[in-house]
Amino acid sequence: MSSMVIVGAQWGDEGKGKITDFLAEKADVVVRYQGGNNAGHTVEVGNEQYKLQLIPSGILHSDKLCIIGNGVVLDPEAFLNEVRNLENRGVATANLKISDRAHVIFPYHKKIDELSELKRGSNDLGTTKKGIGPAYMDKTERVGIRVCDLLKKDVFAAKLKENLEAKNSYLKKMFEFEGYSYEEMLEKYLAYAEQIRPYVDDTSVLVYNAIKADKNVLFEGAQGTLLDLDFGTYPYVTSSHPVAGGVCIGAGVGPALIGKAVGVVKAYTTRVGKGPFPTELFDETGEYIRKKGFEFGTVTGRPRRCGWFDAVIVRYAVRISGLTGIAVTKLDTLADIPRVKICVGYKLNGEIIKDFPASIEDLAFCEPIYEEFEGWEDVSHIKEYNKLPTNMLRYLERIEELCGTKISLVSVGPKRDETIVIEEF
Ligand code: GDP
Ligand code: IMO
Ligand code: MG
Repeated sequence: MSSMVIVGAQWGDEGKGKITDFLAEKADVVVRYQGGNNAGHTVEVGNEQYKLQLIPSGILHSDKLCIIGNGVVLDPEAFLNEVRNLENRGVATANLKISDRAHVIFPYHKKIDELSELKRGSNDLGTTKKGIGPAYMDKTERVGIRVCDLLKKDVFAAKLKENLEAKNSYLKKMFEFEGYSYEEMLEKYLAYAEQIRPYVDDTSVLVYNAIKADKNVLFEGAQGTLLDLDFGTYPYVTSSHPVAGGVCIGAGVGPALIGKAVGVVKAYTTRVGKGPFPTELFDETGEYIRKKGFEFGTVTGRPRRCGWFDAVIVRYAVRISGLTGIAVTKLDTLADIPRVKICVGYKLNGEIIKDFPASIEDLAFCEPIYEEFEGWEDVSHIKEYNKLPTNMLRYLERIEELCGTKISLVSVGPKRDETIVIEEF
């Protein structure tokens, strides 16, 4: 398998957690390289369901090294809760490492996220309010506090003082929010520091050594291509780089060391939060998909917006991340819909466009051009690719043609054994 990146090729929630857990069986190391606990990766093992936010989806295999890379923003409280919840359910976290270079999320990041959204009113971005954007802002402004700082009491005390003065003053001026006590936050975070200390390491060394020793390393993306800060539907994006290129920075690994990039796509499209969505369905088919696919946000519980498969988006993701294959999930959810559609291009101002536009104002006016396909019946019991219904195979072949890449795997249910590998990775 060598090293492989798993990227969301739509707007997130494509089933990256399920696919990562499935592929982790053959991996030695699983690495998260961006995002934070805005992610919600649901993995089903037997009758158990796990909702992972910061911890890589490899954790459910007890022998895999799991790494939270430097590109992740880490909320220590959320991390420790996640660890506790897993341990309480009998999942060992001894093989878990956190990068000493990861930036730390503080309560003021969450508060700024929440109050900025409130202030934007109907123009809000629909963030998860986990403090992700404000924490990455501090990173790029070069005032952020990293895990390695948190572990050094004096360094941390000084950095927190400086940051808190600035943040309290900003919160007061912008939002009339009283701010936080320095002493209380210092004490709380120093206690977190001691609890996370055993997990902290220079993780890019671990990744490099694993690759050099011919171990299989899986990089697990969070969010998706259209939520990427550069390539997504800006400003309705997250503040990190979910695309495959994000791995190099977010895990500290050179591009030549990454063998493959697999995009995870749903058999249809969903998005949580705001922003244009050309194939969105506002009718009973959209409602049917939402109910049957249980399309509600893992992190916020918000209903996900649902629409037809959009090949313009996935073709874009194939190009941006150099995807060497795609994994198509939730094919079972589309079962029993008499006719299904694929968007093959957009019409904008009378012209046909095939490449995803930069401007969301243009995207909002893009009319999808559809091809229609006969539907299929329940497939969740099927274990072999060539036993899938002919209508579904036609649908999948057309997706391959339109997106310019092969389908390496299909998923017909949330469980590990509801996965059909077409081509070994
Ligand atoms: P992620 O954020 O990309 O990991 O995706 P989420 O976990 O947020 O959302 C995907 C949801 O679909 C989860 O509840 C998975 O358990 C579920 N899921 C994944 N693959 C399949 C599939 O093939 N069929 C069905 N019915 N559910 C799936
Ligand atoms: P996974 O990894 C879907 C969305 C939010 C919002 C935008 C910005 O489970 O696929 P943020 O809190 O990141 O500043 O919010 O990004 N968003 C996601 N949507 N799946 C996710 O993660 C998401 N993480 C963030 O809804 O629109
Ligand atoms: Mg999710």
